[in-house]
Amino acid sequence: MDIAIIGAGKVGAGIARAWAKAGHAIRYGLRDPAAARYRPLAATGALLAPAEAAAGAAAILLATPWPATEAAIAALGDLTGKLLLDATNPLAMGPEGLGLAIGHTQSGGERVAAWARGASTFKTLNSTGFEVLGDTQGYPQPPVMFVAGDDAARKPAVLGLVGELGFAPVDAGPLRNARLLEAHAMLWIDLALQRGQGRDFAFGLMRRAG
Ligand SMILES: NC(=O)c1ccc[n+]([C@@H]2O[C@H](COP(=O)([O-])OP(=O)(O)OC[C@H]3O[C@@H](n4cnc5c(N)ncnc54)[C@H](OP(=O)(O)O)[C@@H]3O)[C@@H](O)[C@H]2O)c1
Repeated sequence: MDIAIIGAGKVGAGIARAWAKAGHAIRYGLRDPAAARYRPLAATGALLAPAEAAAGAAAILLATPWPATEAAIAALGDLTGKLLLDATNPLAMGPEGLGLAIGHTQSGGERVAAWARGASTFKTLNSTGFEVLGDTQGYPQPPVMFVAGDDAARKPAVLGLVGELGFAPVDAGPLRNARLLEAHAMLWIDLALQRGQGRDFAFGLMRRAG
């Protein structure tokens, strides 16, 4: 599948490398495709302007910093019919440190869907660290990754893309459940950065044997 990566940083570049290895054609959508810092990405995909990357893609991974996300989507042009995987988290610094800027009655995923009019938006690939997102090897079972979105017909394709990264993909319901997935990401961040768990852990979903 032709996949555009919007936000080729720690999350976007790592996932892109893994999808390229799985045989997908990667189109990086970069604000400055000629910049020297992006040259290493050319080994795994085409370096393009954001609208060009999106136009030729069947699926788009959004991995931009939250404050840049609305503008990044606006720069993509017409997104009608595109599959959009939103890996962002609506993070902001508050009086108690890093937290979610919105939640409970609204989510970043729902905002992204409103900004990306016409696209099928799914929240996923947001709730573990970039080190795990780009390399799921070495865990005793595949790390779990939840997928929330309203387009039932296209959800299997998203679950498939997530599974190809080595995750155990789990359908977590409609897009409004991005409210839960973003809080789940915040739990990962808190455990990693404040509670001594480090950045190398992932959540698993297990069942009782027998
Ligand atoms: N870091 C993690 O472990 C982690 C895990 C899960 C989810 N997330 C979420 O994933 C998102 C990205 O995080 P990250 O750690 O990968 O950030 P990052 O390393 O800072 O990368 C962000 C990328 O977005 C690009 N960018 C910024 N504004 C843009 C725009 N308007 N259009 C296109 N590209 C733009 C930047 O490129 P230029 O500035 O060069 O254009 C940069 O390559 C965030 O929402 C974060 O909350 C992060």
